[in-house]
Amino acid sequence: MTEPAAEHRWQLAPYACQRRTPLVHSNHTLTEALEILAEEAGFGGSEGRSLAFTRAASVLKALPCRLKNLEQLGPLPGLGEHSRRVIQDVLEDGVSVEVERVKLSERYQTMKLFTRIFGVGVRTADRWYQEGLRTLEDLQEHHTKLTRQQRAGLQHYDDLNTPLGRKEAETITQDMQEAVQRFLPGAMVTLAGGFRRGKQNGHDVDLLITHPEDGREVGLLSPLVSWLDSQGVILSQHSQKNSYEGPEQPRDGRVLDRFERCFCIFRLEAQGGLATGRGWKAVRVDLVVTPISQFPFALLGWTGSRHFERELRRFAGHERKMVLNSHALYDTKQVQWLGGGMGCGGGCGQQD
Ligand code: GTP
Ligand code: MN
Ligand code: MN
Repeated sequence: MTEPAAEHRWQLAPYACQRRTPLVHSNHTLTEALEILAEEAGFGGSEGRSLAFTRAASVLKALPCRLKNLEQLGPLPGLGEHSRRVIQDVLEDGVSVEVERVKLSERYQTMKLFTRIFGVGVRTADRWYQEGLRTLEDLQEHHTKLTRQQRAGLQHYDDLNTPLGRKEAETITQDMQEAVQRFLPGAMVTLAGGFRRGKQNGHDVDLLITHPEDGREVGLLSPLVSWLDSQGVILSQHSQKNSYEGPEQPRDGRVLDRFERCFCIFRLEAQGGLATGRGWKAVRVDLVVTPISQFPFALLGWTGSRHFERELRRFAGHERKMVLNSHALYDTKQVQWLGGGMGCGGGCGQQD
């Protein structure tokens, strides 16, 4: 691919949700370096710094070919001084000394190890680190207090940190599609998350459950989960009730939605040669129940990526004076709902 002349700098839209961002792109070495720094900043509780590195990585993912020098980028929004320095180092030396140091640091490695336990967030991992814990064995030896979810996460640590293939995700989707029919004929199960974005691997299976008739989905999750449990499918589950109280809700800037959901660990039987050698493996599954009237927003919100979602909400707020969440889109200028429980007006189409 030919290198653009300096006067032909790449023109990129300022918001990630306005840019085409393919899964396979030409700047993986650079984006990996920046994403490690984003992760490390997140581990330190520096959300702002973390976001800055994530934004920089996101810009590079949208470039049409491999970056050769920083001049090609021009004064792009979302590309700060620090990120430019890291990019420069990797372009010149193949690696960034700063990134290599982070990767090798005890702190980064321990935080990564702990946050990979299902149910463990940055704050818990940090507390354990401060207490001097360094390994999974340390947690057991020190009789560290764990929630039910964390105990399950620890118990199935290796399985849950083995990437899940698309085939497995599709099998689970299909099985769940059949299972929901027992309780609500006509209900529909949709695979969202990374797999919907075309990823071949993922860390979990995100499933949205809805029914063509609004309201029929109410009360579905609890008997469904009990039945799955009785079938031996569920190794662990944590359910939350629907707490959505209507259109006023999103105004509080809430990011996460209020759908009824269940964060589960499923027991997936091996179909032809899974590597566990014991006929089954543990798999993370998120079940989310949504009324059909809010389904487009739920699907958009649960398809990700996290950064795309964040940027889409930022775009809606700053550029359109609208509030977007996984329930609805709200126009603050016209003081009206554009969709989500009130019929879906124009402009709320789902996006891939
Ligand atoms: P892998 O699972 O690692 O393949 O990536 P993923 O993109 O599927 O990530 P994940 O399963 O964590 O999340 C999928 C999407 O659902 C992301 O866009 C998240 O923002 C969104 N999501 C995850 N948890 C919640 C939640 O509790 N509420 C809402 N509204 N969205 C969530
Ligand atoms: Mn996922
Ligand atoms: Mn998920």
